[in-house]
Amino acid sequence: MTTASAPGKVILFGEHAVVSGTPALGSAINLRARVIVEDLPGRLEIEACNLMLRGFSLDLTTGRVSSPGVLDAIKYVSAVLKEFHADGLRVKVDSDIPPAAGLGSSAAIVVATMAALNKHMSLGLSREEIASSSYKIEKTVQQGMGSPMDTAVSTFGGYQLVSETVHGIDLPEMHIVVGCTEKEHNTRSEIQKVQSLRSRYPDIVEPIFCAIGAISTRAVPLIRDNRLEELGHLMNFNQGLLEALGVGTRELSELVYAARGAGHSLGAKLTGAGGGGCMIALPSTAGSLSILVALEQARGTAFEVKTGGAGMRLET
Ligand code: PMV
Repeated sequence: MTTASAPGKVILFGEHAVVSGTPALGSAINLRARVIVEDLPGRLEIEACNLMLRGFSLDLTTGRVSSPGVLDAIKYVSAVLKEFHADGLRVKVDSDIPPAAGLGSSAAIVVATMAALNKHMSLGLSREEIASSSYKIEKTVQQGMGSPMDTAVSTFGGYQLVSETVHGIDLPEMHIVVGCTEKEHNTRSEIQKVQSLRSRYPDIVEPIFCAIGAISTRAVPLIRDNRLEELGHLMNFNQGLLEALGVGTRELSELVYAARGAGHSLGAKLTGAGGGGCMIALPSTAGSLSILVALEQARGTAFEVKTGGAGMRLET
């Protein structure tokens, strides 16, 4: 039996602009997906449990139960199994990362499955090979055109600065508050929306991308030197630019403004593709409690995460 785990992520700065090659900064968080692989001669089974189910429906006519979190997890795991011609196995997945929320749940499932199979089947893949195969598989399943942000962060952990290349950066841990809307998001359609704006209004959208890239670059030394107030300003700038790109929603804005209005909040922005999903807020050193309360009062699901956590690893 082999067990592996991989973290979810937050994009701190730079989503969407990164698709066109400007820098974005992402970080691993202390929520993880876990995958157990064991031998099951003559069969191939996937078992998904405790996936932070967000949507769940029962069709009373057919008796079919549908849960997007579970179905997605199974889709991603089976894509990895297919890639490596795996057979004679039972694969169990569980995760504390809310699915379809912009917190890298699918990348974490792909990376953890890959890490567990790598060991169990003695595939001999390096971490870099796991990152690039995971990226390829995630994008094939999503039929997407996104950046390698999610799979890179999940594989390597810590902080990753992604542009045309991926660079791990050594930065200190931060506490961040996450606020989730009820609405799931669709990364692919949000990317398409932004890229279509870009082709219609290149003279407007390119400078926005450029400004977002500048924000990501400026954020790095601020995190290193613990200049949190300035970092909060950058979050607010970034949020304004994401709004300009049309990926904000009323629910996300309500959470962003609720967080900003709470005591001890230094800045807030959506994280990930937008159109639903989650936002993040940066608390001052006085702590997160007032922000958590404000987000819950604004009908969000709120929790605190730590940034900079470990990447994929085998569990004993
Ligand atoms: O929705 P998420 O967390 O997969 O984030 C998407 C971020 C984008 O920049 C819009 C796309 C990408 O792959 O970088």
